[in-house]
Amino acid sequence: MSNYHVEPIDRPQALTSAALKSQRQHPVQGISRRRLLRLSLGGGIALWLTEIAGGTLNFLWPNLEGGFGGIVKIGTLADVKLKNSNLPIADGFPAYFPDARAFIVLVDPSRQQFVPGTDTVGEGTALNVRALYQRCPHLGCKPNPCLKNFWLECPCHGSRYDRLGIKAQGAAYGPAPRSMDRFSATVEADGTLVLDTSKITLGPLPIAIGQPGIIPPKSPTGCI
Ligand code: FES
Repeated sequence: MSNYHVEPIDRPQALTSAALKSQRQHPVQGISRRRLLRLSLGGGIALWLTEIAGGTLNFLWPNLEGGFGGIVKIGTLADVKLKNSNLPIADGFPAYFPDARAFIVLVDPSRQQFVPGTDTVGEGTALNVRALYQRCPHLGCKPNPCLKNFWLECPCHGSRYDRLGIKAQGAAYGPAPRSMDRFSATVEADGTLVLDTSKITLGPLPIAIGQPGIIPPKSPTGCI
């Protein structure tokens, strides 16, 4: 005879009203399944609301703070020269302003001033200043201004633009389909340049070297 002994399980109780009452009066130890479900659902909703609030703030913050995506104050021509004192800004060389993600260029260097007014399409002649969006119209890299030829050259695939962002026509000048895009700009009465970086106008089509509307490079070789 085996000495293996199994204790009988509790006999199931009939679900009498007395048994149910007793169950209710003795809550389950730890956390019940219902409470766990409620907590999980509440936590999920709280997380979702936090993400929505964070995303909204993230979207609005640049506009509230005057960063890229909103109004960005650049300053007077004197301010631009001072901040780029190692560069020939007075000769029309592009000055980079990271807050605006823009290059600021004097259109006609023979007139050493920004002219008060507003230019919503960013063409720049009337204000004597053009603000170019830093994004290359090909695939979005940042072209660099080259001191040798005064052009902007994209390091990614070699698109080349004159100092005012006009793309040179022809495969030899890179694959970008158009010139660099421009920001809406206002020059206040005291000569302060203010950009609206929420308003971008697409750059015009490329122009062949030698044609009106494109500035020839200062030297036959560039920086890339
Ligand atoms: Fe500028 Fe391709 S991203 S040439």
